[in-house]
Amino acid sequence: MTAQKTVFIKTYGCQMNVYDSERMSDTLAPLGYVPTTEMADADLVILNTCHIREKAAEKVYSELGRIRVMKAERAQTGRETVVAVAGCVAQAEGEEIIRRAPVVDMVFGPQTYHRLPALLDRVAGGERPSETEAPKPARRSRVVETEFPAEDKFDHLTPATAARTRSRGVSAFLTVQEGCDKFCTFCVVPYTRGSEVSRPADKILEEARRLADAGVREVTLLGQNVNAYHGEGADGRPVNLARLLARIADIPGLDRLRYTTSHPRDMDDELIAAHRDMPQLMPYLHLPVQSGSDTILAAMNRRHTASDYLRLVDRIRAARPDLALSGDFIVGFPGETDADFEASLEIIRQAGYAASFSFKYSPRPGTPAAEIEAQVPEAVKDERLQRLQALINAQEAAFSASLVGRTLDVLFEKPGRMPGQMVGRSPYLQPVHVQGSPDLIGTIAPVLIEGTGHHSLFGRLEPAAQDPVRKSA
Ligand code: 5AD
Ligand code: SF4
Repeated sequence: MTAQKTVFIKTYGCQMNVYDSERMSDTLAPLGYVPTTEMADADLVILNTCHIREKAAEKVYSELGRIRVMKAERAQTGRETVVAVAGCVAQAEGEEIIRRAPVVDMVFGPQTYHRLPALLDRVAGGERPSETEAPKPARRSRVVETEFPAEDKFDHLTPATAARTRSRGVSAFLTVQEGCDKFCTFCVVPYTRGSEVSRPADKILEEARRLADAGVREVTLLGQNVNAYHGEGADGRPVNLARLLARIADIPGLDRLRYTTSHPRDMDDELIAAHRDMPQLMPYLHLPVQSGSDTILAAMNRRHTASDYLRLVDRIRAARPDLALSGDFIVGFPGETDADFEASLEIIRQAGYAASFSFKYSPRPGTPAAEIEAQVPEAVKDERLQRLQALINAQEAAFSASLVGRTLDVLFEKPGRMPGQMVGRSPYLQPVHVQGSPDLIGTIAPVLIEGTGHHSLFGRLEPAAQDPVRKSA
């Protein structure tokens, strides 16, 4: 029997990292690793990192400073700690992490987590000095693995790991596509996650069925450029995202489907029609535009104009009039003038967002925009960010307020913070709080919306029809 050890995984950044962390956990389970929520208890600490903006990357180094102290304390009581940095900072910085943070034993990129067992062996065993010499088991070595291996990490989600698929709760992520070929000039993703790769459709369907069997009712398909999905079907023919969604929608129990993140250039007619025709596809779409200025959009290499985007939004809304749109915005991209910034405010007013994420431009080493000389001063970025956020917060509040008095189907996920409170999600992705019993978890029930909170809604359960798929039934 394998001795029990504990692993603590801290996840930064996007939902794809959340998915990858769960897969790492699955990969480690056969080695006897059980997850812990206390870092100080962990024999193995993994930071699954994000490199999208400088702030995200810097957080990792401050966490490593704290881990150094913790590792030393554990060593005093004879407990060893293996410290690993995974994800996109690992991919981008590799060896540099080991140099900057001697506490780190292992660095591995997002494409190599299936090699974790072998990497752990190498850390524990020390490397064989040469073919003829024996390995030095007592000497630990440090390992950096940032290749893009020929084998596919998803192929290592074997039936054995599959059997261990823990219940992911009510709502789960499923990666269908990874990497990006768009090369927006500000973005590190094409470098850290590599070029665009779609998983075969039958592998995805198999995973979706497993999730349904584990009680999951909502699946969010993930990809850096998810609507560019073009996987192979079992018959060898290409499957696009619309067709993939239709096949997942056929799986009993999976009542809600979402996908993120999409690029405007890849919103094809079939996918737009799916928003009209597929009841499981939730009326929410994250469709970043980044800027409203055509000059900046061109400098960003987005390959669409502001009016292309607005026309596209009109077409999607014609298919699904109640669609809640969400976006990402960057302020202070190099060369952004006051007029360019005003154009961003204007596109926000015209498109109308239910939710938005906005960021100050952060120069990323190795990306073309970082080389542009006309960088925008920090104070200007701060001021623009504040103005842009005031506008999107007002839009978000207005959207939430428009739902008061309406009855929405809520998929309940967990107890809330207050006694007797349950929390679920509206079709538009907002958290909804009600008074109710824990039996609600895993069910979809109608809720009369009575008020709004900060990024959330409050309501009361309607005594109407019960959800036919009650978890407790
Ligand atoms: N600086 C600021 N924001 C960025 N994003 C991506 N790269 C950068 C950068 N260098 C934002 C984009 C993207 C989101 C995930 O992060 O808005 O859509
Ligand atoms: Fe980055 Fe998205 Fe542009 Fe790809 S499409 S380069 S992931 S911002």
